[in-house]
Amino acid sequence: MFNDKKVVFSGVQPSGNLTIGNYLGAIRNFGAFSEEYHCYYCVVDMHAITVRQVPAELRRRTYETLALYMACGLDPQKNTLFVQSHVPQHAELGWVLDCYTMFGELSRMTQFKDKSAKNADNINAGLFTYPALMAADILLYQTELVPVGQDQKQHLELARDIANRFNQVYGETFVVPDGYIPKEGAKICSLQDPTKKMSKSDPNENAVIRILDSKDDIIKKFKRAVTDSGNEIIHGEGKEGISNLLNIYSCFTGKTIEEAEKEFKGMGYGDFKLAVGETCADYLKPVREEFARLMADKAYLEQIMAQGAEDAYKNARRTMSKVRRKIGFTELKH
Ligand code: TYM
Repeated sequence: MFNDKKVVFSGVQPSGNLTIGNYLGAIRNFGAFSEEYHCYYCVVDMHAITVRQVPAELRRRTYETLALYMACGLDPQKNTLFVQSHVPQHAELGWVLDCYTMFGELSRMTQFKDKSAKNADNINAGLFTYPALMAADILLYQTELVPVGQDQKQHLELARDIANRFNQVYGETFVVPDGYIPKEGAKICSLQDPTKKMSKSDPNENAVIRILDSKDDIIKKFKRAVTDSGNEIIHGEGKEGISNLLNIYSCFTGKTIEEAEKEFKGMGYGDFKLAVGETCADYLKPVREEFARLMADKAYLEQIMAQGAEDAYKNARRTMSKVRRKIGFTELKH
């Protein structure tokens, strides 16, 4: 079904219920590549265990993330949708790339620093080497383009460095991938601290809008969003709260920030927040409905998982056997 198209790869961790940050920064953009590229969209469960997970919840969220991909418009006949741990080459190449990734490089990763501060009692080696596994995800499929939000830019640059380093030592082995970071929506911020990104693992529920939140919850959370002193609805420095809400509004309506500012000129903060909440909730309604429909059919989700894993495996195996040869591993002769 895919011939020799160029490849797009991206992944989402099933480590929490997905937010409008995940949606606007990443998933919403995935579908645009389906015609022109062979697209792999992965549920990266192996990344999720770098932070302690409750097994039953991880399993449930893995199904849910797959269903959400589809509910957000990804057709499994036009995209390879699969679960990372179903394709063992991710772990295999991850280990190899660990050996081509420097301690100093990993130490500089801001996400590692953030996550180790948040999980001080569990700073495990996986959390540290996480970017090498992410590089493996991408390089395994000879990926050209990786659509992600702003927070993944540093990891992506490291993946490029690893690919270049490997290619220099062994000759052309990996395609060096480019990132695709959208102009709008690449950094959706927390509703409670708009200087930080909205994160699906934020313990403060008021800080995040989940794609599957009910309309009432969405409106309630927007109403509680922190704003700034003053009373003008304008985008700019010192107005991080209002800027974030305008940005979210603009992403959901397709209007520019200037158009949105004009529309809300003279309106109070309360009414503005209500309008943003209603727009967001209405926009996401069909996604919620489709998600519920898909989750009711577990057998279908399992069939998609199996089909995706089989397709991904075929291609992953090809790169892995090339890597094995290049680095000098012996082949088992049958
Ligand atoms: P994850 O699961 O944290 O996030 C999934 C995607 O959502 C984007 N994103 C955001 N975009 C805008 N505003 C936000 N507040 C926001 N929060 C998250 C992320 O940038 C990401 O695109 N390491 C990755 C998963 C991964 C991956 C990969 C991605 C593993 N292997 C290979 C691309 C290619 C992660 O933790 O994403």
